[in-house]
Amino acid sequence: MKVFVTGGTGYIGSHTVVELLNEGHEVVIADNLSNSSASAVDRIEEITGKSVRFYKADVCDKAALRRIFEENEIDLVIHFAGLKAVGESVKIPVKYYRNNIDSTLSLLETMEEKGVNKIIFSSSATVYGDPASLPVKEDFPLSATNPYGATKLFIERILKDAAAANKDLSVVILRYFNPVGAHASGLIGEDPVGIPNNLAPFIARVASGDLPCVNVFGSDYPTKDGTGVRDYIHVVDLAKGHVASLKKLSEAGVHIYNLGTGVGYSVLEVIRSFEKACGKKLPVVMAPRRAGDVAAVYASAEKAKKELGWEAKLGLDEMCESLWNFRVKNAK
Ligand code: NAD
Ligand code: UFG
Repeated sequence: MKVFVTGGTGYIGSHTVVELLNEGHEVVIADNLSNSSASAVDRIEEITGKSVRFYKADVCDKAALRRIFEENEIDLVIHFAGLKAVGESVKIPVKYYRNNIDSTLSLLETMEEKGVNKIIFSSSATVYGDPASLPVKEDFPLSATNPYGATKLFIERILKDAAAANKDLSVVILRYFNPVGAHASGLIGEDPVGIPNNLAPFIARVASGDLPCVNVFGSDYPTKDGTGVRDYIHVVDLAKGHVASLKKLSEAGVHIYNLGTGVGYSVLEVIRSFEKACGKKLPVVMAPRRAGDVAAVYASAEKAKKELGWEAKLGLDEMCESLWNFRVKNAK
């Protein structure tokens, strides 16, 4: 298949492109490089020994999209491109709505014009809000607690409406839990600009000596050790989940899957695992709860296992080891 990957130089996109190439697919990437670097393309090619066609392009730009579809016989689209920082989305909501929703609409319009009927979309566990029970299943009620989450919810709705109106359209919505880690080569991984918001990259910066201590946001939650619990998933497992979901694109309609492990780890468990990976004790400070956080979220991974034949294979230690390996190899 020839796969058009938007946001393909980003964290999850680059890992997915590697898995697609390993499975023999051809890949065309479009990314505006607002949160990534074109060097990811060289690194993907180094890892796989295969070449990728890259366009520096904004997915909101329909003229650019038309050109890409005209120059390549695209079979399907995987749409990763988007802005993703929850806190930033509260500060600049209009930019989030414009970028995330406009890019999806431009893409859907161009796909319709060019007769491409298959799309996989990057959604998030954030669409479950504060779930009433655990593990979280795909048919749970949806809600948004911030503008970023609202863009995911709206895009899911747009895709469902588009599929209801076009009986040839096939949509796969993948709701990611918390991706962590990097490719075993250490060539691609997550490298946020500035101070990281997410736990694992923050711990990695403490381990490398760039930040003084890990702040644990809340130690009085009703969880196993009082700290927040999440479903961390190795980014390589997540990438393979996309490849497994390709088979659903031969059935029209909307197919929704959680991509998680089904296991919840606490903040303190993640810190302990990272300490093993980097071989040193990390300074930890108990801090107040972070506004908007929930005590615990983890997936039911059953539907993806049953219908896609996919399940996560790598554990928390492998996530932390691969993140540390990436950090050491890419020290600035
Ligand atoms: P990322 O920022 O590393 O990758 C997103 C890529 O999209 C970047 O390379 C960025 O330059 C590009 N981009 C943004 N807007 C664009 C536009 N208008 N045109 C072209 N390129 C554009 O993020 P990621 O972690 O790889 O996330 C990929 C997708 O998965 C996003 O849609 C994100 O919301 C979703 N997601 C991520 C997480 C997570 O924790 N990382 C969790 C759930 C869902
Ligand atoms: N945490 C800390 N200290 C930190 C950072 C985080 O204790 O410095 C805690 C949080 O309170 C939470 C856990 O670590 O209990 C995980 O926090 P993250 O910020 O890494 O991840 P979230 O679960 O809050 O959110 C992430 C993404 C969202 C996405 C969601 C589900 O940031 O965009 O996963 O996919 F919606």
